Amino acid sequence: MALFREEELNENPVNPEAENYCAEIIGHYEENVNPAMAKLFRFMGLGTVEIRSSGVHIYDAHGREYLDCLGGYGVFNVGHSHPRVISAVKQQLDKMPLSSKVLFSAPQGRLAAKLAEITPGDLQYSFFCNSGAEAVEGSLKLARLATGRAKIIATTNAFHGKTLGALSATGRDVFRQPCEPLMPGFTHVPFGDSAALDRVCDEQTAAVIVEPIQGEGGIVLPPEGYLAEVKEICRSRGALLILDEVQTGMGRTGKLFACEHDRVVPDIMALAKALGGGVMPIGAIVARPEVWEVLVTHPFLHTSTFGGNPLACTAALAGIDVLREEKLVEGAARKGEYFLEQLRQLQRRFPDIIREVRGRGLLIGLELTQEGLGGFVMAEMFDAGILVAYTLNNPKVIRLEPPLTISEGQIDQVVGALEGAMAKARESI
Ligand SMILES: Cc1ncc(COP(=O)(O)O)c(C=O)c1O
Repeated sequence: MALFREEELNENPVNPEAENYCAEIIGHYEENVNPAMAKLFRFMGLGTVEIRSSGVHIYDAHGREYLDCLGGYGVFNVGHSHPRVISAVKQQLDKMPLSSKVLFSAPQGRLAAKLAEITPGDLQYSFFCNSGAEAVEGSLKLARLATGRAKIIATTNAFHGKTLGALSATGRDVFRQPCEPLMPGFTHVPFGDSAALDRVCDEQTAAVIVEPIQGEGGIVLPPEGYLAEVKEICRSRGALLILDEVQTGMGRTGKLFACEHDRVVPDIMALAKALGGGVMPIGAIVARPEVWEVLVTHPFLHTSTFGGNPLACTAALAGIDVLREEKLVEGAARKGEYFLEQLRQLQRRFPDIIREVRGRGLLIGLELTQEGLGGFVMAEMFDAGILVAYTLNNPKVIRLEPPLTISEGQIDQVVGALEGAMAKARESI
């Protein structure tokens, strides 16, 4: 086969080479990644290959443009390929891509200082890793080390990642059961139920881990005052509060961190996803000085070869600048209100298809009335050139999680396409 030049595809949407290119890549997925995953993608009509991305758009091998209303599950808060983040990363790439690990590294030091400045309360010290699950793993380990206790309380339907420690906190049996026995010492209580937590949180509890809003659980908001009650229960038993802001952080909910809505400062905060400015993978554990004490005594109890690497830290620093300068956090609050209002109107027209609309900022869920409708709506939206997906723990919920740079006109476009998808869904049931 002739060597395929990807840039040609974008110049010529009918280039027949696109078909061969997609067949080749999908073939590799079938043979060498996972045949079932490839089959599912094809079945949902997603049989194409992404080529490039910019702002709120993704472009495929056929030159087709998609409005990204999924945002990489909360990664692309500043949009795709933000030029300012790309340029900062390119400059760092030319200077020093990875760290020696034995000398001080400026991007890591500066990012830790920046996080101390922008996170609430006295959160001061950061450890950097490479993903959300790693940030959760490190947070759990730090809580055990800092308290000398073993018990961890998490919530039913939570999603904290799929490595063994994080999975022990994740609250969905379908992911947990095949891997049992998981880590000992984990208990789950219903999310949003502080009385249930009060009953099980005791003097053996190292930490309570909770998402301010359950993301993969189906964009579930707790009752007003819940986080403050959780914090108080933790305080009264000498347990630590770990807030998993991996998905809610970096402006997604209309505040830089979702816990700011409730004025609650956790003992440990886990970050990842959008922290990398939509360009580099990075996770962080940010904690209060008292909690960090144990790592001051033993600084090498927790380490990571690639954690805090210069490229990722540079991307994070540039991403934070973009969030601030483009006022994206305030924009997320405003646009989220607008989006939610449009969707509530849609729900009133399609109560047989949409059970509930809920969310905060630009973290929005549409709960459908039947499970099978999630995949149907996702495929219809894809046909209309809009990317959405259902939440991992709850396939009945379509999540709308666009870059915070989305315009009101683009929100209208999404709502219009959803209306078409709902009308077809109505015909199909
Ligand atoms: C709240 C939360 N915590 C942790 C994770 C795990 O992150 P990762 O997939 O980067 O390991 C996710 C992923 O969706 C998440 O939503």
